[in-house]
Amino acid sequence: MSNSPLFSGKKIVLGVGGGIAAYKSVELMRRLVDAGAFVSPVLTEASLRFVGEVTFSALGSERARVSLWDEDDPIPHTRLAQQADLIVLAPATADLIARYAAGIADDLLTTTLIATKAPVVVVAAMHTEMWQHPSVVENIAILRGRGVIVIEPESGRLAGGDVGVGRLASAERVISAIEELFAVEGRRVLAGKRVLVTAGGTREAIDPVRFIGNRSSGKQGIAFARTALDFGAEVTLVTTVPVPEGSGVDVVQVESAQEMFEAVSKVSGKCDLVVMAAAVADFRCKEISPTKIKKGRGVPQVLLEPTPDILAHLGSVKPENQVLIGFAAETGELEAEARRKLKDKNADFIVANNVLEGDAGFAVDTNRVTLVYDDSAMALELADKKDIAKKVLSFVAEWAQKKGVWTV
Ligand code: PMT
Repeated sequence: MSNSPLFSGKKIVLGVGGGIAAYKSVELMRRLVDAGAFVSPVLTEASLRFVGEVTFSALGSERARVSLWDEDDPIPHTRLAQQADLIVLAPATADLIARYAAGIADDLLTTTLIATKAPVVVVAAMHTEMWQHPSVVENIAILRGRGVIVIEPESGRLAGGDVGVGRLASAERVISAIEELFAVEGRRVLAGKRVLVTAGGTREAIDPVRFIGNRSSGKQGIAFARTALDFGAEVTLVTTVPVPEGSGVDVVQVESAQEMFEAVSKVSGKCDLVVMAAAVADFRCKEISPTKIKKGRGVPQVLLEPTPDILAHLGSVKPENQVLIGFAAETGELEAEARRKLKDKNADFIVANNVLEGDAGFAVDTNRVTLVYDDSAMALELADKKDIAKKVLSFVAEWAQKKGVWTV
């Protein structure tokens, strides 16, 4: 799994219990690190009978820890517990589950568990008989009742040649559960925020019949508006594409760049976040014919003039607490062009897409974008336009908090 905005910078404590599946948590840790998480491995004494501390130190984001007592920091558990965004127990043995459920805190991992406010994911692995034992069943119910996420074991070959339920869930299953958890948390990140999104291609009239237009369907912009709504924001969508009533967003229907400029200007000053996903025409007719231009009168000369650059205008009047996201529809030099637009238009982010790719850009349901910001660029894999919006908005919200652009 390559770097993912949902995981990027997340601090994860990986707690390893003493079971044969402990070797599989090495692979899980590697994948979490690859996804961009900062993983602190914490091993129980029992796990050391199955795996080596050195392996976890070498592949983790920092050295593996086992004991409460063997380092300079006199209270490593509170540091780990307070800084963690998530604690994952993999494998969680019957013993580890019982100690956690009972509130026993007698080693680094269990003290960290008791001291944390972060969500905890328990990935259970043990022999079938143990998994089905009433004490384990009750302890799992206790943990679930406290909001702990339990990933149940899978069926298959177990230690000693037995077959049954008990195998540690695959790394893919664990990662997708964590992804879902981070995404759900992400849903709160725009609560109380006002968000303005533009969508669709503008139409610049030539006469009452014809216009200069482009291929934008509005799908990407509408996906951003819906996601912002899901994430708890109050959303205004200025769009050239009709949106069904009852969508939950405040829809302002426009046609031309000038109308979009006016609609955006009315609300942008009050917004915490503006997403300029619309494909705005750069040129319009200097004069619009009031009647249909007749073919019989020969090929007309159409004189063009620039439209208002809405994004550049927003960048020039951007309030301190506003995040401004522009897009870049490119056919080459993706990142360089996006960086130029970021600077010229004083945006905080440019979402760049190559509109020559068949599965990205205009009109299709998927997109492949590069997020350009500060001195960095982050390429996101091909995904549904709604997933692109989720990833971008989650990342932007975290960036805005870290930068102090948003203080609440
Ligand atoms: O709508 P879909 O079919 O889903 O397709 C999505 C998309 C390809 C339209 C979208 O992902 C996208 O790239 N939107 C921006 C298209 C565009 O106008 O790019 P640009 O590189 O020409 O403009 C750069 C930025 O300036 C954009 O944020 C644009 O909204 C803004 N702009 C441009 C011209 C202008 N006069 N005013 C502007 O605000």
